Amino acid sequence: MKNPRAKHNFQGRPCAITGVGAYVPERILTNAELEKLVETSDEWITSRTGIKERRIAAVDQFTSDLATKAAERAMKMAGVTADQIDLIIVATLTPDMPFPSTACLVQRNLGAARAAAFDIEAACSGFIYALEIGQQFILSRTYETVLVIGAEKLSSIVNWKDRNTCVLFGDGAGAAILQHRENSHGLLTAVMGADGNKADLLSMPGGGSACPATQTSVSDGKHFLRMDGKETFKNAVNAMVSAAHEAMRRCEIDITRIKCVIPHQANQRIVDAVGDRLKATPEQLFINLHKYGNTSAASVAIALDEAVSSGRIERGDLILLVVFGAGLTWGAAVIEW
Ligand code: UT7
Repeated sequence: MKNPRAKHNFQGRPCAITGVGAYVPERILTNAELEKLVETSDEWITSRTGIKERRIAAVDQFTSDLATKAAERAMKMAGVTADQIDLIIVATLTPDMPFPSTACLVQRNLGAARAAAFDIEAACSGFIYALEIGQQFILSRTYETVLVIGAEKLSSIVNWKDRNTCVLFGDGAGAAILQHRENSHGLLTAVMGADGNKADLLSMPGGGSACPATQTSVSDGKHFLRMDGKETFKNAVNAMVSAAHEAMRRCEIDITRIKCVIPHQANQRIVDAVGDRLKATPEQLFINLHKYGNTSAASVAIALDEAVSSGRIERGDLILLVVFGAGLTWGAAVIEW
């Protein structure tokens, strides 16, 4: 049997994921509660999405707070202290504010005084993008310890009067510590893709240089997330399947070598369609979207942490992460845990 690492050039400097952690806010918003907000039903939400409940951050709890809690848990697992962190990357589309970056606020919260810090925005695909960027800094010998976080407070950009979107999203954060380790386990490959021609399918048009905040932009609902659900769905399945195939092709493995497939947790029907087309068994697919809904950049990060802490994944297992989001963006990663 081929060694999936063999194809990859680690330049004698492998990179391991030495810790993962996640945090979701305490407040649970159920489908029954949403029935009181918009014209919907638990039956519709469950049958069309698989989502039963989602977590909602407190009014005074921001993306950086969720990110910090997830980071502390990942640091604990890795045995890393704040002063050891060289770089913090936060993937988010709901930063605390346009600037400074949420990563800088996390750096302050952690007291990680030595760390450089920046955000990246690749929507729901952000965690794989951030993992790959973080790994490159370790492979290039620039840094020893990188903290990568996917964190969102999507409840802050959801239109709670729009039943097409408000039932889908939730808040949360997941984190990973990347470190140089001899003979290590880690990210074997990461495929990343984008198609800006389809930018309009999923967006929040207000708040940037194209549409700064004005009274009109607010009353027109430009600061809320919008989505063409059906088109997004079709694009999601195709992009996720081809990214996953490309990632496995690069590692010279097929789906039977993968212990656990962790797809972006947007919709049970998307997960099932991706699983079918990849010929993954139900036992291989990791699903937690019924508890958290779609948490965008935090989605696969939270799921990875849960898969590890619940014992679904053990050291040495191969994991396939597959993501898709606004941009459009997509990605897939093979990790040797
Ligand atoms: O994270 C980035 C990636 N995100 C995704 O990939 C999400 C992709 N899209 C989806 O998950 C699905 O398209 C949705 C769950 C958003 C929608 O499911 P759908 O089966 O595509 O439904 P639809 O948009 O075609 O809507 C069907 C009907 C419509 O009514 P009419 O026009 O047929 O009378 C909607 O108005 O369902 C209606 N509807 C609802 N009804 C009750 C839409 N939302 C709701 C709702 N409750 N919450």
